[in-house]
Amino acid sequence: MKLTIIGTGYVGLVTGACFAEMGSRVTCVDIDTAKIENLKKGILPIYEPGLERIVQENMADGTLQFTTRLEDAARDCQIFFIAVGTPPGEDGSADLQYVRRVAARIGQCMTDYAVIVDKSTVPVGTADQVAEVVQEALDTRGIDLEFDVVSNPEFLKEGAAIQDFLKPDRIIVGANSERAAKIMTRLYAPFSMNRDKMILMNVRDAEMTKYAANAMLATKISFMNEIANICEHLGVDVENVRKGIGSDSRIGYSFIYPGAGYGGSCFPKDVKALIKTSKDTGVDPAVLAAVENRNNLQKKVLAEKIKARLGTDLSGRRFALWGLAFKPGTDDMREAASIVLIDNLLAAGAIVCAYDPVAMAQAARELPEAWLESSRLILANDQYQALENADAMILVTEWKTFRRPDFKRMGQLLNQKIIFDGRNQYDPEEVAEFGFEYHGIGREAFHPADL
Ligand SMILES: NC(=O)c1ccc[n+]([C@@H]2O[C@H](COP(=O)([O-])OP(=O)(O)OC[C@H]3O[C@@H](n4cnc5c(N)ncnc54)[C@H](O)[C@@H]3O)[C@@H](O)[C@H]2O)c1
Repeated sequence: MKLTIIGTGYVGLVTGACFAEMGSRVTCVDIDTAKIENLKKGILPIYEPGLERIVQENMADGTLQFTTRLEDAARDCQIFFIAVGTPPGEDGSADLQYVRRVAARIGQCMTDYAVIVDKSTVPVGTADQVAEVVQEALDTRGIDLEFDVVSNPEFLKEGAAIQDFLKPDRIIVGANSERAAKIMTRLYAPFSMNRDKMILMNVRDAEMTKYAANAMLATKISFMNEIANICEHLGVDVENVRKGIGSDSRIGYSFIYPGAGYGGSCFPKDVKALIKTSKDTGVDPAVLAAVENRNNLQKKVLAEKIKARLGTDLSGRRFALWGLAFKPGTDDMREAASIVLIDNLLAAGAIVCAYDPVAMAQAARELPEAWLESSRLILANDQYQALENADAMILVTEWKTFRRPDFKRMGQLLNQKIIFDGRNQYDPEEVAEFGFEYHGIGREAFHPADL
């Protein structure tokens, strides 16, 4: 099948590469000329395990191409995927300007019957808007072409995106026409070989399914973070509670790790957008609002612990920060907990020396220039260099390389042997044996004297 993916960001690039890998002929389009020029040379805009190989091999085979010219890609294209961003607007709703712009361009360029797929996360009713915009563009051209708009939300996880796309738990397709449903079923057949993973429904149901899924996962995280805060005040170790409840098959272990709050390009904005949708329909979003509120509070917890221990004025203090990406396995820093923490520490007068195994280039691009220019935020070359003369180490992203560090060496490099563990990665007793004072999330502080 001939596919065009419009928007070659995280989702668009993974989608295009994986369809090409499964035998479709794919053209990825983007308005970002530099991104497309780099991709043509095999240089990827994101870090995602396994993606580079798939992109390079399929480019070499000629099954995957990149262009800025939709008019070229659109010729005889059977399926258009819209995979542009849907950032939050001022009122929290998903900003659909990019989706609408792409819909208009499709209407201007399509040459035959096509299925137009909303891959971006979009609110209920967006497919109708896309159809209107496409029809307007066709009317302006004065031509009569049939098309269907389908919702096919994406559930990939950054850091495991290829695996998620090639071996999905489920494929949600919302289609209101049999013709479109049949084309989508054929397109996804190679991904559904062992068991039927396709769940067909109508368009609005599919649009809502994506928001409900993300809101559910965000709810689990915020719920557990709240439990962690209660535990801490009761002398309870939330890690035991986590294991205790995770073993219940109705609850499960995933997404119940207490931490420094959720970030990324999806959960914060999707929860926000669903709150807005809920309000618009007259339903009080009591649960969703609490989920968002707890997360905003949770992103401040590490800074509060540091101030409680070292004082509210942190002038002259230096901190080593391990982890900048919003989670391990990606260089994505959108809405990362690390940004809120750095902001709080710098505002209190501190110096922060940060290290991340893959997000350093992204950090240099995305973090406010003023922070870097002031030399109060320093980007270190490796995790141990970040520790030199610091008053504490703060773990924010649980990369594997941070899990079993050389505690002896850490103790030699740090000014004070204090660990603030924002992801409960370390055993308090073990680090205390190396002379560290330990502060985790949802558990009491532990000192060498407590051994
Ligand atoms: N990142 C994820 O993990 C993830 C997972 C599931 C769903 N989603 C959803 O997928 C959508 C895309 O997210 P993303 O993270 O890939 O975004 P992104 O910001 O990484 O990529 C968007 C791309 O669209 C391009 N673009 C914008 N306007 C364009 C236009 N008119 N024509 C062509 N290209 C255009 C941008 O240049 C950019 O490269 C969002 O709705 C998001 O919520 C994201």
